[in-house]
Amino acid sequence: MKKRLIGFITLLLMLTGLGLAPDQANAEDGSALQRIQDAGVLVVGTSADFPPFEFYAVVDGERRVVGMDIMIAEQIADDLGVELQIQDIGFDSLLPALEARNVDVVIAGMTPTAERRRSVDFSDIYFETFQNLMVRAEDQEVFDSIESLRGQRIGVQSGSLQEGLAEQIPDAEIMSLTDLSDLLLALRTNRIDAMVMQGPNAEAHAGHDDSLHTFVGDFDLEDDDAGSAIAFRQGEDSLVEAVNETLSYIAEENLTEEFLAVAGEYMAQAELDEEGEEIEESFISSYWEYFRDGTLITLLISASAVFFGLVLGSLLALMRLSNKFLIRPLATAYIEFVRGTPLLIQVMFIYFASGMLFNLPALTAGIIAVSLNSGAYIAEIIRGGINSVNTGQEEASRSLGMSKKQAMRYIIFPQALKNIWPALGNEFITIIKESSIVSVIGVGELIFQTRVVRSISFQGILPLFVTMLIYFALTFSLTKLLNYYEGSMNHD
Ligand code: ARG
Repeated sequence: MKKRLIGFITLLLMLTGLGLAPDQANAEDGSALQRIQDAGVLVVGTSADFPPFEFYAVVDGERRVVGMDIMIAEQIADDLGVELQIQDIGFDSLLPALEARNVDVVIAGMTPTAERRRSVDFSDIYFETFQNLMVRAEDQEVFDSIESLRGQRIGVQSGSLQEGLAEQIPDAEIMSLTDLSDLLLALRTNRIDAMVMQGPNAEAHAGHDDSLHTFVGDFDLEDDDAGSAIAFRQGEDSLVEAVNETLSYIAEENLTEEFLAVAGEYMAQAELDEEGEEIEESFISSYWEYFRDGTLITLLISASAVFFGLVLGSLLALMRLSNKFLIRPLATAYIEFVRGTPLLIQVMFIYFASGMLFNLPALTAGIIAVSLNSGAYIAEIIRGGINSVNTGQEEASRSLGMSKKQAMRYIIFPQALKNIWPALGNEFITIIKESSIVSVIGVGELIFQTRVVRSISFQGILPLFVTMLIYFALTFSLTKLLNYYEGSMNHD
């Protein structure tokens, strides 16, 4: 009981921490640069699915986000005299994360379009680029211009500039996905016929895959559509100025060329890894660390969510059975609301909302969201279990002189637990699988790592298969474990 209480109090403290944290949302400018220098760290948001701008590579035996943008970020952090911290988030969550203060700046090969300028500020352009079309190599004779793609199925990264450019293709059927690896797979498997992609990125991919062909698209580009720039929250001019100084130094020294060359070397390494004769073997041995780390984080999230969910769920269930004023409606409202809204939104809400107040690490935000969510389901399971115990049991224990609490603890709850065991097991298995939703805020769990492996191995399907097996191994062992305990509860 004590342990449960401590767990619950910790959870409460974590939650109230949200409200007590100092509100930095109004930090006025002038302090932006100062704030970062005081903190001693620059938090850069990126979406590491975009070679040669940003992608994963193994450097000195360690997996890191590398690429031209990262080298630029390093230079900026150096000039500011602070540490650099990279946060890898999905491309379409980058600007929300910036505005919610989860990150200080966004460097992601991002184009400073007029639309984006309405909500964020941009640095000077640090890289001029071109916009490509990517098609299957076998189609290269047929599809060689915008007009030739009339009426075809076109893939783009959601929230990207390319999403808008694709509309220049007459009658195109546009398919937007968050993940570039998924789009490339869709192209290879004939689900789409072409993709719009930033030039260097498209070339990087076509260079690694003979089944793909890319060429510069004949798009109508606005002035702003051709370059990449760094995004800032509006009004942080002191920071923008400082960053622009670094950028102009990089331009003067022509460093981007050098950076791109280094990025090319990292990509070549990724390619070498892939060239084992037996793909399966070399695939697992090259990437097993990603799967291992992802599995560990998935287990951590699930175990925490089961624990906190049980604590919260028991409490809510008791609240729902109580007759005290307001207690029951409060619990009911919580349960209904949480069950009635998607976990995906809850995860994003807690992550971004916490960013506005103080910086909750993505992993913590993810654990809180999954626990709060699961608590609602567990509450209903427990309530059902308690109700399923015959009222005669309570009456009998009370007539033996037990208090209400004792009756609940020694007589009703143990019987309830036996009844609800299968349903609880179901919920735990769901948690293991559903926890993958926290990958949207950049938590490195199993699905997230799978995405990383897919983008660096240039393999679309094999990583998915490996991940499926890992999930199955996890849930199946859990089932076995639960069955074992169920058996040991059977006394009658
Ligand atoms: N330049 C394009 C845009 O701003 C695509 C950038 C995608 N970047 C990435 N890291 N995935 O929309």
